[in-house]
Amino acid sequence: MTSEQKTSSNHAGKQRVVGTGAKSAAPRIGVIGGGQLARMMQEAAAPLGIELDALVEASDGSAAQVIPESRVAQADDVAAIMELARHVDALTVEHEHVPEATLKQAEQFAPVRPNATALRYAQDKIAMRTRMGELGIPGPRWFTVNSADDVAAALRELGGRAVLKTPRDGYDGKGVRIIDDVRQADDWFAEGPLLVEELIPFEMEVAQLVARRPSGEIRSWPVVRTVQQQGTCFEVVAPAPGIGEALATEIRELGESIARELAVVGILAVELFLARDSDGTLRPYVNELAMRPHNSGHWTIEGSTTSQFEQHVRAVLDLPLGDTALRAPWSVMVNILGSQLRDPRDAYPQAMARYPSVKFHMYGKAVKPRRKIGHVTAVGSDLQAALAAVHGAAAILRGEDSE
Ligand SMILES: Nc1ncnc2c1ncn2[C@@H]1O[C@H](COP(=O)(O)OP(=O)(O)O)[C@@H](O)[C@H]1O
Ligand SMILES: [Mg+2]
Repeated sequence: MTSEQKTSSNHAGKQRVVGTGAKSAAPRIGVIGGGQLARMMQEAAAPLGIELDALVEASDGSAAQVIPESRVAQADDVAAIMELARHVDALTVEHEHVPEATLKQAEQFAPVRPNATALRYAQDKIAMRTRMGELGIPGPRWFTVNSADDVAAALRELGGRAVLKTPRDGYDGKGVRIIDDVRQADDWFAEGPLLVEELIPFEMEVAQLVARRPSGEIRSWPVVRTVQQQGTCFEVVAPAPGIGEALATEIRELGESIARELAVVGILAVELFLARDSDGTLRPYVNELAMRPHNSGHWTIEGSTTSQFEQHVRAVLDLPLGDTALRAPWSVMVNILGSQLRDPRDAYPQAMARYPSVKFHMYGKAVKPRRKIGHVTAVGSDLQAALAAVHGAAAILRGEDSE
């Protein structure tokens, strides 16, 4: 070791050699995935002086544009993931596509948070439905189907119409289909068993966000209302309007018990349907789980003392969690899904002049039809005004408003 160098160790016990006067060994998180969620994790980690090291799909992708230490590799590249794990204090993911065996293998180099055992329930909808059943968590009736005959039997049980899902690798409504005929499942059987669920006639879709750290501390945000457009999250209102305190508490406790029972570390998002039972009482049904920052929590960047991205970073490093109090009575977020503009940022002058209260988040992604390329948020005490502002700003970014 020369006089310019010293060996420093961080709390995970890794030895790192740094130059004197250079930055000291910052806590470092490895993130698998290079999309907007990793990008927004970086936006939250930077003020804390916490460093991210990302495994990204492309060197010019959303996260790679803001994370100087990005390695290009696919999420099933075992060698690249082991190499990443060797250089970080903890490893996390921004999507569900890392094989379970690879995550287990990475445990020998750094804690994986959430770990493979927990993440399985966000990766596989059949495993999730089975586990939720064991835990007594309310959800739609469901069947595993392997053949057209199974589908026919499930359709008979569920009144002739149902929801067909691929158990793995679905997102934004890809891998979800409403069916009323056995043949509508034919083209999906090649990948293995499918899930057929009761079609819940929901009045509202909501999401409960919970954060948990390895030591067990849990913090939750208020339940939010989500609106999907063709299966993709489009609008989020926080807190969910028109939900009584008893139901909100029930949903929060459902989310927290799932986080505890599955030993989730980081952000858990529980998507739920609210539907009326025969007495007219609004009841929750769990739809699916995500174990990472989630689209239903983007509003927390402006709307809460601690954003979901900061909370995820804290939880993954087992740091005390931040306050989840609201900074305003209402927060509204709208996704930008595609645009008629070549680059929606060209419309900033108009959009910013007209909606000075709106906060803009663009992910550095090229425009493609219906692709999530950004979101806008407004917070305030007037829900209607916030809704009008975000929808107005979003329309300008989509190129629909030429005033
Ligand atoms: N059992 C169901 N009943 C009614 N609608 C459903 C059901 N399952 C899914 N949906 C609708 O499809 C959307 C996407 O389904 P989801 O299972 O959440 O898939 P993804 O993984 O693509 O988010 C849901 O947000 C909801 O609008
Ligand atoms: Mg979903």
